Amino acid sequence: MTGGAGFIGSEYVRMLLTPGAGPDLAPSAVTVLDKLTYSGNRANLAPVADDPRLRFVHGDICDPALVDSVVPGHDVIVHFAAESHVDRSIAGATPFVTTNVVGTQTLLDAALRHGTGRFVHVSTDEVYGSIAAGSWTEEWALAPNSPYSASKAGSDLLALAYHRTHGMDVVVTRCSNNYGHYQYPEKVIPLFVTNLLDGGTVPLYGDGGNIRDWLHVHDHCVGIALVQDKGRAGEVYHIGGGTELTNKELTGLLLSACDASWDRVVPVADRKGHDRRYSLSIAKIQNELGYAPSIDLASGLAATVDWYRANRAWWEPLKAAPAR
Ligand SMILES: NC(=O)c1ccc[n+]([C@@H]2O[C@H](COP(=O)([O-])OP(=O)(O)OC[C@H]3O[C@@H](n4cnc5c(N)ncnc54)[C@H](O)[C@@H]3O)[C@@H](O)[C@H]2O)c1
Repeated sequence: MTGGAGFIGSEYVRMLLTPGAGPDLAPSAVTVLDKLTYSGNRANLAPVADDPRLRFVHGDICDPALVDSVVPGHDVIVHFAAESHVDRSIAGATPFVTTNVVGTQTLLDAALRHGTGRFVHVSTDEVYGSIAAGSWTEEWALAPNSPYSASKAGSDLLALAYHRTHGMDVVVTRCSNNYGHYQYPEKVIPLFVTNLLDGGTVPLYGDGGNIRDWLHVHDHCVGIALVQDKGRAGEVYHIGGGTELTNKELTGLLLSACDASWDRVVPVADRKGHDRRYSLSIAKIQNELGYAPSIDLASGLAATVDWYRANRAWWEPLKAAPAR
């Protein structure tokens, strides 16, 4: 698992190593390769840290010698590692192109060289750009708008190219917006929740009308496990939640979950190039692999807010640390 100390990767590792937590893929060993950037955190793996099947390698997916030494002996690579925050990509795109594009190519080359059985590439709905009405299917043309999504589109297409060119067993997942525990408090839900729990204000972009489809991180990981286990080589699978909300609607839900009112909301200038709406069709993964999200937004959000309330020791140091 690359990026297994991040938000989604760590959920995947915890799920795989915890009996009954998700689809049983029965891994005999799991290696996490993670650079521990600002969003990577060993504490995210604390619940499974003592599992003898888990090995942690601190390192960069862009380092060919390191990757070449770690990859042999693994049946599957699940590739989560990425620079993942759109606002950071607007401020500076270099680490996005380096990690997301060059890092992915470095991993693909190593997987090809060492004959890794399967390469699961974790991608995003943002590669499609923005859709005014209806929902994207997996055949839709990619039209990314931010440096983040453009770098993810590059890596997504590279992964598919290694299947077509070299016959590698590659599967790609494209998922909608995730929320849940252990999410670094720069993304909208943990940022708003932690600000509100601290008695502060929250910044709402533009008119608040941008629409996102929200999915609990656990449901994303269940979808990835199904694709890892049963997805067809060379195929793309959408993973989504079917719960579309405007940012303003989401803000209202978070305010009421934190017992706060609208006077805590500060309108700010819209994000540059802000995609208006994302919407995925998940018919393919439902029909082929039997996927269905299991956590409804109301209970998932309530549990998430409770987790941030109960785990200040996890997020307070992250918010107090100097920006990097
Ligand atoms: N968060 C979402 O809503 C969402 C939705 C769809 C897809 N995705 C994708 O899922 C993946 C995981 O996202 P996340 O939200 O968990 O991100 P995250 O920022 O929480 O975690 C990223 C992890 O990758 C590691 N990393 C970064 N650069 C690295 C490098 N060069 N070498 C090794 N490790 C490195 C970080 O240390 C961190 O542990 C990403 O590929 C992202 O594009 C995220």
